[in-house]
Amino acid sequence: MKSKRRFPQKGIAEGKIMARILKAKREDNDFTDGTVFGSMCTSPLEIAKKVHSMFLESNLGNPGLYMGTIELEREVHEAVASLINAPEGYEALSVGGATEGNILALWRARNECGKNKVILPKSAHFSFKKACDLLGMESVEIPLDKDHLPDLYIMEDKIDDDTAVVVGIAGTTELGLVEPIEEIAKIAGDIHLHVDAAFGGFTIPFLKQYETLPRFDFNISGVDSLVLDPHKMGLSTIPLGLYYSIDEHPISVEAPYLTGKHQKTITGTRMSASIPAFWSVIKYIGFEGYSSIVESCMKNTRVLLDLGKSIGLDPIVEPVLNIVSFHHQDPDSVVKKMAKKGWNISQTVNPRGLRFVIMPHVTEGSIYKMVPALEDCI
Ligand SMILES: Cc1ncc(COP(=O)(O)O)c(C=O)c1O
Repeated sequence: MKSKRRFPQKGIAEGKIMARILKAKREDNDFTDGTVFGSMCTSPLEIAKKVHSMFLESNLGNPGLYMGTIELEREVHEAVASLINAPEGYEALSVGGATEGNILALWRARNECGKNKVILPKSAHFSFKKACDLLGMESVEIPLDKDHLPDLYIMEDKIDDDTAVVVGIAGTTELGLVEPIEEIAKIAGDIHLHVDAAFGGFTIPFLKQYETLPRFDFNISGVDSLVLDPHKMGLSTIPLGLYYSIDEHPISVEAPYLTGKHQKTITGTRMSASIPAFWSVIKYIGFEGYSSIVESCMKNTRVLLDLGKSIGLDPIVEPVLNIVSFHHQDPDSVVKKMAKKGWNISQTVNPRGLRFVIMPHVTEGSIYKMVPALEDCI
């Protein structure tokens, strides 16, 4: 039997299309009602949405056609470089997110030294699994200690002559911890050190207690590359990650029929509207705006921490960033029960627990509404 054709044969009226589109949009979660506690993304600022929609055709895969966008990109790279203390001669690439940035970092490290091993704390994001698989690299997992930080003795022991790259994380996905990058740098020595600051990169620099937190950026000698995500705590539109390296990224593929003549990112044609969008956010709210948003997230994090304790939950760690995770033996069932009640929460695997990311769309009011439902579900 011939399969039913799904591709439309004739066009239909815009009204009908929009009715279906609006239905789909209503079925999507959005961040406005404060029910999403399981996402590291948030509603971008209005100015970012407005600017993003003006640059839908921009494609920095073919940069010569978009001289305006490329100038804004240069300014974004410079502004963020100063936030993370990138040294003179650094190179920045706008990528689709930290997954792409992490792949680039491992790719570079492998090609430069011809070695194959990736020293990876157990806390590392699953994007590194993709990277290792794609690049044919071997990941060497470093267990965590009682504080859920990489065991540095084991790390030192595992580094050997085949090691291409060591990874440290500033803002772990499950617990929001900042790993001791300075100590990791000492252990790594001359080996490429890559910092995954996808989440922490736009949180840590704005915290009041910044000075007392472990340093994580290019201030530390030995850090070779770093990724951070404007589409997470950078409050901009999806997709945007930033990859920085201390010097020129050597992997470059010729693109002779395009204006740029070579490409360094994994993607070719790439959505670039999020770059002007992010430019507008950093100009609009500045360092002070970010600081007050981050502080408000931290205040709400403490509200959830206390309320969670009051219903008998035990935090896995005292939060450092705006993520609270509580021990739980059966997080899967709680996540499902909460979803039935209209709440999106997430879970940790290592150790098992319930995970809440307190992004700017999560208000104190939404926490107070969510906790009674949580109490019913645990
Ligand atoms: C620490 C960390 N690294 C990398 C990623 C991957 O980021 P993306 O999904 O933007 O590629 C995440 C996503 O949550 C993350 O938390």
